[in-house]
Amino acid sequence: MSSQAKVLGNLTAVVGTQWGDEGKGKLIDILAAKFDIIARATGGANAGHTIHIPDKNNPGQSQKFVFHLVPAGMLTDGKICVVGNGVAMHLPTFFEEIEVLEKAGISTAERIFISDRAHLLFEYHKAIDELQEMAKDSKKIGTTKRGIGPCYTDKIRRIGLRVHDLDNFEKFSAKYLENVETLQKMYGKFKYDIQAELNYYKEISLRVKPMILDSAYYLNEALDKGQSILVEGANGALLDIDHGTYPYVTSSNASIGGVVTGTGIGVTKIKNIVGIMKAYTTRVGEGPFPTELNDELGEKIRTIGGEFGATTGRPRRCGWFDAVVGKYSVMLNSLTSINLTKLDVLTGFPTLKIATNYKYLNEYLKSFPASLDVLKEIEIEYIELPGWEEDLSKVRKYQDLPKNARLYVEKIEELVGCKINYIGTGVGRDDMIFRD
Ligand code: GDP
Ligand code: IMO
Ligand code: MG
Repeated sequence: MSSQAKVLGNLTAVVGTQWGDEGKGKLIDILAAKFDIIARATGGANAGHTIHIPDKNNPGQSQKFVFHLVPAGMLTDGKICVVGNGVAMHLPTFFEEIEVLEKAGISTAERIFISDRAHLLFEYHKAIDELQEMAKDSKKIGTTKRGIGPCYTDKIRRIGLRVHDLDNFEKFSAKYLENVETLQKMYGKFKYDIQAELNYYKEISLRVKPMILDSAYYLNEALDKGQSILVEGANGALLDIDHGTYPYVTSSNASIGGVVTGTGIGVTKIKNIVGIMKAYTTRVGEGPFPTELNDELGEKIRTIGGEFGATTGRPRRCGWFDAVVGKYSVMLNSLTSINLTKLDVLTGFPTLKIATNYKYLNEYLKSFPASLDVLKEIEIEYIELPGWEEDLSKVRKYQDLPKNARLYVEKIEELVGCKINYIGTGVGRDDMIFRD
């Protein structure tokens, strides 16, 4: 995809390829200018997408935004944003983000819409998330405690309340109370203020009404009219409920399948699938992480990379780039290109390691294994590459990167089997190398 041309009549999806926090928000913000509509398809407020944009009121300074539910396209004038049917929608968080935008002088009126089929995430989902984590004790998943698992559980159990249910408040409250009763029978009498929540939804329903949209119809019609759509993935492929490191995963399909079911747009309409891949690996929460560095090198990456969760503030676990994970993600997502992010963070490491293969019982594994018991026992093969000392933050052309940085990029490309078209060199909108 050209860095200049507007993309017409097609859908481009941007997905996380590791364990989340790869830098999806930044690329969405950069690409948004070339698209008509930016949509979220999966996940909920477990996502934390950070974007730094130039501050209009303070030249030379930047403004930082962290979005959990609002698509990053809201930061680009005139763009339409849609929260798709696959999203677990927590309206209080959503409206907090709208307030932040309005306070920053960014108009949201008639620019953001919510799918009528998106499931509503209530405070009781958060209470249950907390209870389940406590009950699991040492086996806890380390969720974001945003109620994601319990909300999707209700969806699959077929008792969930959806955005369109707000149209009839009487029916909505009856179903809501019925759900609380059912869930309290299952999980015990968890404490929270039922009446306060119902009052909130009664009040907010009028505000939500003009934003409700039959999103699958709207998005497909937009494509038919020649408009272009950018889908902002959430979480990451290794957190995917089917393909991730189960059970240490989130509760939706974070890989490309979720983009299709979470918007109602068929696979044949997807033109580009851009995978966001950090130049090293991070993970928040529990679960396997084969290339984790539990030493001063891991600490160094965390400090230089600012690796602290955008949603919970938890320190992110850090480790070497894992090409087995990368290759698995390229396959799962049918990636057409990659944005390698945070290459600048690796400046100053004398040597860099990349995991190239997993061996189990002396045999090479063909792909990422399903069993966590196998993962515990694997032997990891690494290659070692020379590092570089130069600051990459001002580099804008691929050929201006230090030779060893190019070597590192090209080695990753070769190992994972997909072209790296974008390279991140800092947090800002301009800190990106386009390599067509
Ligand atoms: P997301 O959830 O995938 O959108 O990623 P997060 O926002 O949770 O975490 C990515 C972090 O890395 C954010 O703080 C970004 O501002 C930052 N970031 C993104 N790309 C780059 C890059 O190329 N270099 C540096 N240094 N930081 C980056
Ligand atoms: P973005 O979109 C990083 C992780 C949680 C936990 C597991 C399950 O910012 O990349 P959940 O609350 O979903 O039930 O937690 O998944 N997780 C993420 N980690 N980035 C995310 O999103 C994540 N979304 C969920 O830390 O380990
Ligand atoms: Mg994040």
